[in-house]
Amino acid sequence: MSNRVVIVGGTSGIGLATARRLAAHGAEVVIAGRDQQRLASALAELGPGVTGRAVDARDESDLARLFSEVGEVDHVVVTVTGPSGTTPFREIALEQLSTHVSGKLLPHVATIQAALPHLAPGGSITLVSSASAGGSIPATAALAAVNAGVEALVPVLAVELAPVRVNAVAPGVIDTEWWNFLPDDARAEVFSSLAAATPVGRIGTADDIAQAIEFLAGNGFTTGIVVRVDGGARLGAPK
Ligand SMILES: NC(=O)c1ccc[n+]([C@@H]2O[C@H](COP(=O)([O-])OP(=O)(O)OC[C@H]3O[C@@H](n4cnc5c(N)ncnc54)[C@H](OP(=O)(O)O)[C@@H]3O)[C@@H](O)[C@H]2O)c1
Repeated sequence: MSNRVVIVGGTSGIGLATARRLAAHGAEVVIAGRDQQRLASALAELGPGVTGRAVDARDESDLARLFSEVGEVDHVVVTVTGPSGTTPFREIALEQLSTHVSGKLLPHVATIQAALPHLAPGGSITLVSSASAGGSIPATAALAAVNAGVEALVPVLAVELAPVRVNAVAPGVIDTEWWNFLPDDARAEVFSSLAAATPVGRIGTADDIAQAIEFLAGNGFTTGIVVRVDGGARLGAPK
């Protein structure tokens, strides 16, 4: 895939793997994230073909500045994450739920709105939801609600913003910094029990998702879909 791609959330995990993959395949990649140091180390790793900006996707003026500085964009990828971790439904404070909305759903909406005036005809927007949307894992109600909100945007925007294409990837469990809320040993234990409960027998890598994002951004006949990349976890444990 060629052309100019902006990845908001591109300084870590799935976004960084997407930047790595797209840049290796010839795209002109711009990454954005809040933390300057994280941005600098991502850029150092990605090399000279990739540029970046410190941007908070909850801030509309930051986003407007990003897209006006970058100019015309062919593809926008949003990999911004909200709060991590799980909470039993009975214990979710409304204030906590609103941090999920403001941390993930609103930045997705704000990024799309800021990008639109700069998107090339035939451009694409690719979002990242989560297997928690439509899932039934206890204590993931806040994640499920927000990610279902991200997925609900996809078919509406695919029609309303056409010919811009709009798609999403819904990842299963992926080994990224999102899981750093758990200490190393607890994380290793969770990963190994989730891998055993997944038909492919492992949890995912950031590049598993980057590969799906590359397909959705690059395939000009695909719009309005959510691709589930979860190793078959939604189907239940292998028998
Ligand atoms: N890892 C999983 O198991 C998993 C599973 C399902 C879905 N997902 C989804 O996949 C997406 C990517 O997650 P990941 O696992 O790659 O997480 P990650 O490694 O923590 O990366 C998140 C990225 O988003 C950036 N970010 C967060 N808030 C931002 C904001 N307000 N403005 C700009 N950038 C922001 C972070 O940089 P700064 O913090 O420096 O801003 C970082 O670059 C998220 O939407 C997550 O919900 C992940």
